[in-house]
Amino acid sequence: MSHALEHLLQSNKEWAQRITNDDPQFFSKLVQQQTPRYLWIGCADSRVPSTQLVDVLPGDMFVHRNVANLVIHTDFNCLSVMQYAIDVLKVEHIIVCGHYRCGGVQAAMQQQSFGLVDNWLRHIQDIISKHQRYLDTFATEKERLDKLCELNVIEQVLNVCENTLVRHAWQRGQKLSVHGWIYGVEDGLLRDLKLSINNTTEMNAAIHRLMAQTQTI
Ligand code: CO
Repeated sequence: MSHALEHLLQSNKEWAQRITNDDPQFFSKLVQQQTPRYLWIGCADSRVPSTQLVDVLPGDMFVHRNVANLVIHTDFNCLSVMQYAIDVLKVEHIIVCGHYRCGGVQAAMQQQSFGLVDNWLRHIQDIISKHQRYLDTFATEKERLDKLCELNVIEQVLNVCENTLVRHAWQRGQKLSVHGWIYGVEDGLLRDLKLSINNTTEMNAAIHRLMAQTQTI
Protein backbone atom coordinates (compact mmCIF):
# COMPACT_ATOMS: atom_id res chain seq x y z
CA MET A 1 0.00 0.00 0.00
CA SER A 2 1.16 3.46 -0.81
CA HIS A 3 2.27 5.67 2.07
CA ALA A 4 0.69 8.57 0.24
CA LEU A 5 -2.80 7.37 1.11
CA GLU A 6 -2.27 6.23 4.69
CA HIS A 7 -3.68 9.44 6.14
CA LEU A 8 -6.96 8.83 4.33
CA LEU A 9 -7.33 5.37 5.84
CA GLN A 10 -6.40 6.74 9.25
CA SER A 11 -9.01 9.49 8.89
CA ASN A 12 -11.58 6.87 7.99
CA LYS A 13 -10.86 4.93 11.20
CA GLU A 14 -11.33 8.08 13.25
CA TRP A 15 -14.52 8.99 11.40
CA ALA A 16 -16.06 5.56 11.94
CA GLN A 17 -15.09 5.73 15.59
CA ARG A 18 -16.73 9.14 16.04
CA ILE A 19 -19.98 7.87 14.54
CA THR A 20 -19.90 4.71 16.64
CA ASN A 21 -19.26 6.78 19.78
CA ASP A 22 -22.47 8.70 19.07
CA ASP A 23 -24.49 5.63 18.15
CA PRO A 24 -22.90 2.20 18.75
CA GLN A 25 -25.53 0.51 16.52
CA PHE A 26 -25.19 2.98 13.63
CA PHE A 27 -23.35 0.76 11.15
CA SER A 28 -25.02 -2.50 12.18
CA LYS A 29 -28.44 -0.90 11.55
CA LEU A 30 -27.31 0.21 8.08
CA VAL A 31 -26.32 -3.36 7.20
CA GLN A 32 -30.00 -4.35 7.02
CA GLN A 33 -31.01 -1.92 4.29
CA GLN A 34 -30.72 1.60 2.94
CA THR A 35 -33.82 3.78 2.86
CA PRO A 36 -32.63 7.14 1.55
CA ARG A 37 -35.31 9.74 0.85
CA TYR A 38 -33.19 11.78 -1.54
CA LEU A 39 -31.38 11.28 -4.80
CA TRP A 40 -28.68 13.87 -5.39
CA ILE A 41 -27.45 14.50 -8.92
CA GLY A 42 -24.46 16.81 -8.74
CA CYS A 43 -21.12 17.80 -10.19
CA ALA A 44 -18.04 15.64 -9.60
CA ASP A 45 -16.15 18.80 -8.52
CA SER A 46 -14.19 18.10 -5.30
CA ARG A 47 -15.46 21.35 -3.81
CA VAL A 48 -19.08 20.19 -3.95
CA PRO A 49 -19.24 17.10 -1.71
CA SER A 50 -22.97 16.30 -1.78
CA THR A 51 -23.61 14.65 1.59
CA GLN A 52 -21.21 16.92 3.48
CA LEU A 53 -22.93 20.07 2.23
CA VAL A 54 -26.26 19.08 3.70
CA ASP A 55 -24.74 17.32 6.70
CA VAL A 56 -26.48 13.98 6.29
CA LEU A 57 -25.29 10.61 7.52
CA PRO A 58 -24.60 7.46 5.52
CA GLY A 59 -27.94 5.96 4.49
CA ASP A 60 -29.74 9.27 3.96
CA MET A 61 -28.88 10.18 0.38
CA PHE A 62 -28.40 8.26 -2.88
CA VAL A 63 -25.84 10.06 -5.03
CA HIS A 64 -24.88 10.36 -8.67
CA ARG A 65 -22.15 12.79 -9.68
CA ASN A 66 -20.58 13.52 -13.03
CA VAL A 67 -18.80 16.40 -14.74
CA ALA A 68 -21.15 19.42 -14.72
CA ASN A 69 -24.14 17.52 -13.26
CA LEU A 70 -25.58 16.54 -16.64
CA VAL A 71 -28.62 14.32 -17.10
CA ILE A 72 -28.36 12.92 -20.61
CA HIS A 73 -31.29 10.87 -21.94
CA THR A 74 -29.05 8.03 -23.13
CA ASP A 75 -26.55 7.96 -20.24
CA PHE A 76 -27.23 4.51 -18.78
CA ASN A 77 -25.06 5.23 -15.78
CA CYS A 78 -27.24 8.14 -14.65
CA LEU A 79 -30.43 6.42 -15.83
CA SER A 80 -29.61 3.27 -13.85
CA VAL A 81 -29.04 5.32 -10.71
CA MET A 82 -32.35 7.10 -11.28
CA GLN A 83 -34.24 3.89 -12.02
CA TYR A 84 -32.98 2.16 -8.89
CA ALA A 85 -33.63 5.25 -6.78
CA ILE A 86 -37.18 5.70 -8.09
CA ASP A 87 -38.38 2.12 -8.54
CA VAL A 88 -36.57 0.26 -5.76
CA LEU A 89 -35.56 2.79 -3.10
CA LYS A 90 -38.62 4.93 -3.77
CA VAL A 91 -36.88 8.22 -3.02
CA GLU A 92 -39.32 11.12 -2.70
CA HIS A 93 -37.00 13.89 -3.85
CA ILE A 94 -34.50 14.21 -6.67
CA ILE A 95 -32.19 17.18 -6.20
CA VAL A 96 -30.20 18.40 -9.19
CA CYS A 97 -27.46 20.55 -7.73
CA GLY A 98 -25.12 22.62 -9.85
CA HIS A 99 -22.58 25.12 -8.64
CA TYR A 100 -21.15 28.47 -9.57
CA ARG A 101 -17.60 28.49 -10.98
CA CYS A 102 -18.17 25.05 -12.51
CA GLY A 103 -15.08 24.18 -14.55
CA GLY A 104 -17.18 22.15 -16.98
CA VAL A 105 -19.59 25.01 -17.63
CA GLN A 106 -16.69 27.44 -17.98
CA ALA A 107 -14.85 25.17 -20.42
CA ALA A 108 -17.99 24.91 -22.55
CA MET A 109 -18.58 28.65 -22.56
CA GLN A 110 -14.97 29.52 -23.35
CA GLN A 111 -14.63 26.63 -25.79
CA GLN A 112 -11.57 25.34 -23.99
CA SER A 113 -10.29 21.93 -24.96
CA PHE A 114 -9.43 19.25 -22.41
CA GLY A 115 -9.75 16.10 -24.54
CA LEU A 116 -12.47 13.49 -24.41
CA VAL A 117 -14.49 15.48 -21.89
CA ASP A 118 -15.09 18.12 -24.60
CA ASN A 119 -17.67 15.75 -26.09
CA TRP A 120 -19.50 15.44 -22.77
CA LEU A 121 -19.48 19.22 -22.38
CA ARG A 122 -20.91 19.59 -25.88
CA HIS A 123 -24.27 19.21 -24.12
CA ILE A 124 -23.63 22.51 -22.33
CA GLN A 125 -22.72 24.19 -25.58
CA ASP A 126 -26.16 23.13 -26.82
CA ILE A 127 -27.66 24.96 -23.83
CA ILE A 128 -25.59 28.03 -24.71
CA SER A 129 -26.85 27.94 -28.31
CA LYS A 130 -30.44 27.57 -27.14
CA HIS A 131 -30.23 30.53 -24.74
CA GLN A 132 -27.56 32.60 -26.50
CA ARG A 133 -29.60 35.78 -26.84
CA TYR A 134 -30.62 35.69 -23.20
CA LEU A 135 -27.04 35.09 -22.06
CA ASP A 136 -25.89 38.00 -24.22
CA THR A 137 -28.08 40.36 -22.19
CA PHE A 138 -25.68 40.05 -19.24
CA ALA A 139 -22.85 42.55 -19.28
CA THR A 140 -19.93 40.64 -17.81
CA GLU A 141 -18.38 37.24 -18.42
CA LYS A 142 -18.86 36.45 -14.70
CA GLU A 143 -22.60 37.17 -14.89
CA ARG A 144 -22.96 35.11 -18.08
CA LEU A 145 -21.13 32.19 -16.48
CA ASP A 146 -23.23 32.38 -13.30
CA LYS A 147 -26.40 32.51 -15.38
CA LEU A 148 -25.26 29.58 -17.50
CA CYS A 149 -24.56 27.54 -14.35
CA GLU A 150 -28.18 28.25 -13.28
CA LEU A 151 -29.60 27.51 -16.74
CA ASN A 152 -27.69 24.23 -16.76
CA VAL A 153 -29.39 23.19 -13.52
CA ILE A 154 -32.82 24.14 -14.90
CA GLU A 155 -32.22 22.21 -18.12
CA GLN A 156 -31.06 19.14 -16.18
CA VAL A 157 -34.08 19.32 -13.87
CA LEU A 158 -36.25 19.28 -17.00
CA ASN A 159 -34.24 16.38 -18.42
CA VAL A 160 -34.94 14.43 -15.21
CA CYS A 161 -38.66 15.21 -15.48
CA GLU A 162 -38.93 14.43 -19.18
CA ASN A 163 -37.39 11.05 -18.64
CA THR A 164 -39.68 7.99 -18.90
CA LEU A 165 -38.64 6.88 -15.41
CA VAL A 166 -40.04 10.00 -13.77
CA ARG A 167 -43.03 10.29 -16.13
CA HIS A 168 -44.04 6.70 -15.38
CA ALA A 169 -43.63 7.23 -11.64
CA TRP A 170 -45.98 10.22 -11.84
CA GLN A 171 -48.42 8.30 -14.06
CA ARG A 172 -48.74 5.55 -11.45
CA GLY A 173 -49.24 8.13 -8.70
CA GLN A 174 -45.84 7.80 -7.01
CA LYS A 175 -44.90 10.80 -4.89
CA LEU A 176 -41.79 12.29 -6.45
CA SER A 177 -40.50 15.86 -6.56
CA VAL A 178 -37.61 17.15 -8.65
CA HIS A 179 -35.72 20.20 -7.39
CA GLY A 180 -33.07 22.56 -8.74
CA TRP A 181 -30.39 23.94 -6.43
CA ILE A 182 -27.11 25.72 -6.97
CA TYR A 183 -24.13 25.87 -4.64
CA GLY A 184 -21.76 28.75 -4.03
CA VAL A 185 -18.18 27.49 -3.84
CA GLU A 186 -17.19 30.89 -2.42
CA ASP A 187 -19.55 30.86 0.60
CA GLY A 188 -20.51 27.20 1.13
CA LEU A 189 -24.20 27.97 0.73
CA LEU A 190 -26.89 26.26 -1.31
CA ARG A 191 -29.45 28.36 -3.16
CA ASP A 192 -32.90 27.09 -4.07
CA LEU A 193 -33.62 28.00 -7.69
CA LYS A 194 -37.34 27.90 -6.80
CA LEU A 195 -37.85 25.07 -9.20
CA SER A 196 -39.69 22.16 -7.61
CA ILE A 197 -41.68 19.97 -9.95
CA ASN A 198 -44.19 17.39 -8.71
CA ASN A 199 -46.11 16.36 -11.83
CA THR A 200 -46.37 16.71 -15.61
CA THR A 201 -48.48 19.87 -15.41
CA GLU A 202 -45.81 21.61 -13.32
CA MET A 203 -43.13 20.35 -15.69
CA ASN A 204 -44.91 21.87 -18.69
CA ALA A 205 -45.37 25.14 -16.78
CA ALA A 206 -41.64 25.20 -15.97
CA ILE A 207 -40.76 24.65 -19.63
CA HIS A 208 -43.02 27.56 -20.62
CA ARG A 209 -41.55 29.81 -17.92
CA LEU A 210 -38.03 29.07 -19.12
CA MET A 211 -39.01 29.75 -22.73
CA ALA A 212 -40.74 33.00 -21.78
CA GLN A 213 -37.69 34.10 -19.81
CA THR A 214 -35.02 33.35 -22.39
CA GLN A 215 -36.62 33.08 -25.83
CA THR A 216 -38.65 36.27 -26.04
CA ILE A 217 -35.79 38.73 -25.96
CO1 CO B 1 -18.72 21.60 -11.73
